[in-house]
Amino acid sequence: MPDATTRPPTLLVIDDDAEIRYSLSRVLSSRGYQVAEAASGEEGVAVVRKGPPPDLIFLDVRMGGMSGIEALQHIRAASPRQLVILMTAFGTAQTAIEAMKFGAFDYVMKPFDPAKVLGLAQHALKAHADLRAVGDYRPTINADDYREGIVGSSPVMQEVFKVIGQVTASDVTVMITGESGTGKELVARSIWKHSHRATRPFIAVNCAAIPDNLIESELFGHEKGSFTGATGQRLGKFELCDGGTIFLDEIGDMALATQTKILRVLQQGEIQRVGGTEMIRVDVRILAATNKNLEAMVRDKTFREDLYYRLNVVRIRMPALRERGEDIPQIVDFCLQNLARQRKTRVSKVSPEALAQLLRHGWPGNVRELENTIYRSAVVAQGDAILVKDLPAELGGGHSSAPFTLPSAAPKPALAPALPAPPVSSPAIASAPRPLAELLDEIFARLSATGEPVLPFLEREMTTRARQAGPELADAAPAPRGAKGGAKRGRARR
Ligand SMILES: Nc1ncnc2c1ncn2[C@@H]1O[C@H](COP(=O)(O)OP(=O)(O)OP(=O)(O)O)[C@@H](O)[C@H]1O
Ligand SMILES: [Mg+2]
Repeated sequence: MPDATTRPPTLLVIDDDAEIRYSLSRVLSSRGYQVAEAASGEEGVAVVRKGPPPDLIFLDVRMGGMSGIEALQHIRAASPRQLVILMTAFGTAQTAIEAMKFGAFDYVMKPFDPAKVLGLAQHALKAHADLRAVGDYRPTINADDYREGIVGSSPVMQEVFKVIGQVTASDVTVMITGESGTGKELVARSIWKHSHRATRPFIAVNCAAIPDNLIESELFGHEKGSFTGATGQRLGKFELCDGGTIFLDEIGDMALATQTKILRVLQQGEIQRVGGTEMIRVDVRILAATNKNLEAMVRDKTFREDLYYRLNVVRIRMPALRERGEDIPQIVDFCLQNLARQRKTRVSKVSPEALAQLLRHGWPGNVRELENTIYRSAVVAQGDAILVKDLPAELGGGHSSAPFTLPSAAPKPALAPALPAPPVSSPAIASAPRPLAELLDEIFARLSATGEPVLPFLEREMTTRARQAGPELADAAPAPRGAKGGAKRGRARR
């Protein structure tokens, strides 16, 4: 790791066990690192406070006096970007969670394998150097200027913006096509917001998500007793949306019978509730979207030709993300600024290497996939920038794509087999069958993909489990030195 042009990295080993300090220092100095030692948490904290802070700290979790977790908090308070690797003989969930929560870079189990400790030190220092190298980062856009939520300045997107502008002045029906995740709904909302109907409702109906036997009642409402379960009169979306704009998403999935009724709304501006006889006038603008090939459906007679022409007065084709790679940096900055505003992460930058990987990817899931990737990567990032290591494995990073393939209803005991083989992300503990750090990475990535705050959830879940397992495990405070208890089982040395 150290090279001739820079000073050797400085390391600090904090452990109250002289034997551990000695052996770890020997291993680390064999690579040219300059290693200092501290015999207690208090001493270690004092060294950091006095400065200059070391490049990397190895910190024992269980020590007499100040515990490792406590020391970690003091150290990070004194030197917020301090790289710290915790060491422990016990892989309890509580310690692992606390360690990551208070900003440890990683977590290593005793007894050490020297090669792995060196690998981990190198990995940590490299990540740190990469973070510093990102340096001054100039975001390509300011998210505040994009209240529409539609980001992109590529020529194909400029065309889209022009057409949006043209169709807002009238009530013309617009068909928006494009692959999944390209922003079809965003465009529909933007047309509505800029139209004279902006003060009236915008209602999106996903035709693919509503069963055929319910869609008519959903759209047009029903009269009491019109079918089993119709216990009262109900207004449909068209009536609720009077004066506004209805967005018929996935219109290619609409049954032929319903298509006929949509045609009637378009031609006569009238609807009839299910089970009703009265024709009700509605003033609703229709926007529609699909990622299906409607022309082919018309040929196959699964989509009404007359409705096709009625809907297709103006067509907006949303370009796939791979057709407008030049927009990717802007979308990345937009996502990061939004995440920061929602206080979901503190990441504000992307390293040039990570951005290059993002530009190289094919983005089958388009902007939605890019958004998801940025969120996941920002959550696992350990500094203020996304590095290549933080990207999912398919983009060259160290994180599995589990969140994209999360089994929806996996039976509980099947959790481990349902997970794909995890990539090796932590060299120090890679030889264990399910290394803890990797498991944590995976849990972290999966939870973060759900959009829920990760820490409260984990704390709650792990505390429950720890309490069930035994009082020692549930105790956040480390056991005093020499204390007896279940947690000491399997303790290799100390
Ligand atoms: N140009 C863009 N700039 C910023 N965010 C975008 C852009 N396009 C899409 N998004 C975001 O990507 C996600 C998917 O967009 P949207 O739901 O509009 O896509 P869609 O084409 O309707 O997808 P689907 O076909 O799956 O319904 C949303 O979170 C949206 O905010
Ligand atoms: Mg959509």
